[in-house]
Amino acid sequence: MNLIVAVDNNWGIGLGGTQTLVIPEDRRYFQALTDGCTVIVGRRTLLDFPGGKPLPGRRNIVLSRDAALKIDGAVVVNSLSGLFKEIAGEDPDKVFVIGGDRVFRQLLPYCTRAYVTKIYAAPESDTFFPNLDKLDNWVLEETGETKTHDGVNYAFLKYRNTAPLPPSAE
Ligand SMILES: NC(=O)c1ccc[n+]([C@@H]2O[C@H](COP(=O)([O-])OP(=O)(O)OC[C@H]3O[C@@H](n4cnc5c(N)ncnc54)[C@H](OP(=O)(O)O)[C@@H]3O)[C@@H](O)[C@H]2O)c1
Repeated sequence: MNLIVAVDNNWGIGLGGTQTLVIPEDRRYFQALTDGCTVIVGRRTLLDFPGGKPLPGRRNIVLSRDAALKIDGAVVVNSLSGLFKEIAGEDPDKVFVIGGDRVFRQLLPYCTRAYVTKIYAAPESDTFFPNLDKLDNWVLEETGETKTHDGVNYAFLKYRNTAPLPPSAE
């Protein structure tokens, strides 16, 4: 499986449950990469989606420990082992972890690629992604050209995990 995330200079990813910096091209990039794929999302990040609803055009898997939770248009799983069973047999390149913080941290070791939109700014953040430049098994494979939106520079980066763990029961 892979992950997709937008980070700032400090690897900040959110403040107060939402993303502070939104780059329209990043939204389009996210849509294009994940379209028709399976997305794995934490229950808290789902709340921040439009209408608090699963993303259309994708198979949404929501992680929550609430065994009674039912969400229209999504499969709810209550553990990593439940998640791994749910994605068994899927093309790993078509499964994306899309956040948030707690979900990223638990699933990072299982991801092969990280699609990182680097936004060269330093807004206030209370939620951070691990700095992949400091993790031994993650290598930067590609840095896209630097672009600008409303005076903010950004680029699309690709990292690869040289030793991903196989998804298996917890
Ligand atoms: N910049 C980006 O690209 C990006 C992308 C996505 C999100 N974000 C940011 O990330 C922040 C949200 O992150 P977050 O850590 O608060 O929430 P989160 O990771 O979206 O969701 C956490 C919830 O997921 C469930 N969960 C997590 N691990 C689980 C497990 N092993 N088994 C079962 N359920 C599990 C729990 O739900 P229950 O409480 O229901 O048990 C937990 O409270 C926001 O600021 C958001 O804007 C940023």
